[in-house]
Amino acid sequence: MAHKLALIGFGGVGQGFVNILREKKVKLSEYHQIDLKVVSISDLFKGSLYHPDGLCLDKVIKAVQETGSLNAYPDEEGLIRNWSSKETIEQTNADSIIEMTFTDVQTGQPAIDHCQWAFLHKRNVVMTNKGPVALAYESLSNLARQNGVQWLFEGAVMSGTPALRLPQTTLTGNDITEIKGILNGTTNYMLMRMEEGLNYEEALKEAQGLGYAEADPTADVEGHDVLYKILILANVVLGVPLKREEVACQGIASISLADLDRAKELGKRWKLIGSLKQTEAGVMATVKPEMVDLDDPLAGVTGAMNAITYTCDLSGPITLVGAGAGIKETGFAVLIDLIAISRHKKGMEG
Ligand code: HSE
Repeated sequence: MAHKLALIGFGGVGQGFVNILREKKVKLSEYHQIDLKVVSISDLFKGSLYHPDGLCLDKVIKAVQETGSLNAYPDEEGLIRNWSSKETIEQTNADSIIEMTFTDVQTGQPAIDHCQWAFLHKRNVVMTNKGPVALAYESLSNLARQNGVQWLFEGAVMSGTPALRLPQTTLTGNDITEIKGILNGTTNYMLMRMEEGLNYEEALKEAQGLGYAEADPTADVEGHDVLYKILILANVVLGVPLKREEVACQGIASISLADLDRAKELGKRWKLIGSLKQTEAGVMATVKPEMVDLDDPLAGVTGAMNAITYTCDLSGPITLVGAGAGIKETGFAVLIDLIAISRHKKGMEG
């Protein structure tokens, strides 16, 4: 049976995801027997479409590319237009909502409201927004559980690099004693370029030009982006309901060229590190620039790449290195969550 999807928010990542579905449709259905069908798309600025039997993705992309809106999608019998996000959640026949709205990370809205609404209407939710997971993990995951649906958000940390799925699946059975990561590409790129001789402003400008930084780069350079990812890892991987105000957070603005030279002399390298450490007093969380030994796998992570090391009691340290952002990578994160839900759904259907 088809797994029916409703997309809420249709910006770059949403369109990238639809392109992935167009590209992979045959492979998914022939090799994996997974049929992902988009029945609805709604976007505050581009309009909305719903057809219970599914939308034609080629026509969707054509409409958006040619007019910037969904309104140029041809009329078909049964097609409904102009539903709000909430109407889409309530009234479509979608099994899963893909939440990709522009959400304020500091409040988690409107994504938190959309998740609640979806769970109450028995829809699974897949999303890549960080805010709801960082700020409302406990209440939202309880609500999803009470309503018998799933809430997955692999893309919220390290986009398509499976930083959340790895510890929850393959590493199970270990006790994780420490998590330490480079979780922001902008600052990693900037530190690399500053080591190569650029000053802070030049390095930031370059990172912005390459599209790594957020529209307002404050969250990147002051460490807040890493802080939200650390809250997610604490809640989801360690099961510790850490709050924003419990994490000491320092960005890279204080790192001078003299600091970078000093690290070089010591055989080390500065990295902006987010870490969670199990201690007798509980989990200690920090976000701050640290001098990392050159033989630490994190020291070799260059450019805008991200990396995370899970230190485990049985397997020892395991480091995952990969992209931390990007349209295709984030679209892939949505895809792996949907594949997981499809498999679960199939298991339930027998
Ligand atoms: N601006 C972020 C980064 C994107 O530089 O890593 C992913 O959160």
